[in-house]
Amino acid sequence: MSKKIFSGVQPTGNLHLGNYLGALKNFVYLNNDEKNKCIFCVVDLHAITIKQDPKELKNNIRETVATFIASGIDPKRSIIFNQSRVAAHSEAAWILSCIARMGWLNRMTQFKEKAGKDKEKASVGLYSYPVLMAADILLYDATHVPVGDDQKQHLELCRDIAQKFNNDYQIENFLQVPEPLIQKEFSRIMSLKDGSKKMSKSEQSDLSRINLTDDNDQIINKIKKAKTDSLPMPKDLKELDKRPEARNLLGIYSSLTDSNLEKSLQIFAGKNFSKFKEVLADKLVSKIGPISKEIKKLLVERQYLDEILLNGVEKANSIASKKIERIKEIVGF
Ligand code: AMP
Ligand code: TRP
Repeated sequence: MSKKIFSGVQPTGNLHLGNYLGALKNFVYLNNDEKNKCIFCVVDLHAITIKQDPKELKNNIRETVATFIASGIDPKRSIIFNQSRVAAHSEAAWILSCIARMGWLNRMTQFKEKAGKDKEKASVGLYSYPVLMAADILLYDATHVPVGDDQKQHLELCRDIAQKFNNDYQIENFLQVPEPLIQKEFSRIMSLKDGSKKMSKSEQSDLSRINLTDDNDQIINKIKKAKTDSLPMPKDLKELDKRPEARNLLGIYSSLTDSNLEKSLQIFAGKNFSKFKEVLADKLVSKIGPISKEIKKLLVERQYLDEILLNGVEKANSIASKKIERIKEIVGF
């Protein structure tokens, strides 16, 4: 079946192994299937829900495009563009914010995590962020949205918004209700320093994540220093469940080798951790090393990256501007 794919990544720097295994790897797989129509968006409007330095933001937008391409997304086959340059996203977000209910947004756990204790000081944009995300997806009639596990709740909200719009305006199937594409396993990669926390761009310690721009020595060093316990590798899945750091590292290994925890355990059960870490670092170097080199090469080619975005904006705009016009008509503007 041919799928219409849409996904977004925030240009907030430090794209890491979690982004790669949770999202980008799947983008590449979907992009490689000729039947699919793929759109990958650099969501700069989402990025400014938290304060950004303007110069850094500009660089991070290019770096995100470079990372897409270095990971294997073909810009000839997929549309790659920056969200802020297609006005329909902001327009649709406003209209859909009049469909979404406060009660729905109040349940979003990511807002609670990001806003922290002092919710009063969070931007209004951070609160309504999932509505903009729904606008992104619904403008392109996306059928499938590949994301990591942390976006599951936002996608459910997007589905609710689409259904309520269709119901409120009595226009069946006008907004396509999208399906999430979340990998069954390894869709949440954890910090290398704390197996109970998500690997994240904003975590202070750089040792907590493998950045996609890390060189081979940095990768090897970070795996060496990754938190483990003093016991040998777990013997079975039951024991693994009680040891979150071991589970995370074995999950990374399994995802990199397209395997599963059970098979990986058969290789390493009862062995010394340092031996396993050597093998894992090797796998990471052979997967992430070439991506890191390619990102650095592409970053110098600013004009090439800007052209990809310009081209993508034109294509995205021609789809989104038609959809927003229909939305406006339906609403009665
Ligand atoms: P973001 O960097 O927040 O824009 O996320 C881009 C994509 O990476 C989204 O699909 C996220 O769900 C995914 N992602 C981010 N962090 C992780 C993680 N630690 N594990 C798995 N997927 C992740
Ligand atoms: N909220 C997503 C994240 O932080 C990024 C995003 C924005 C997105 N718009 C989207 C993902 C549309 C999928 C579809 O990871």
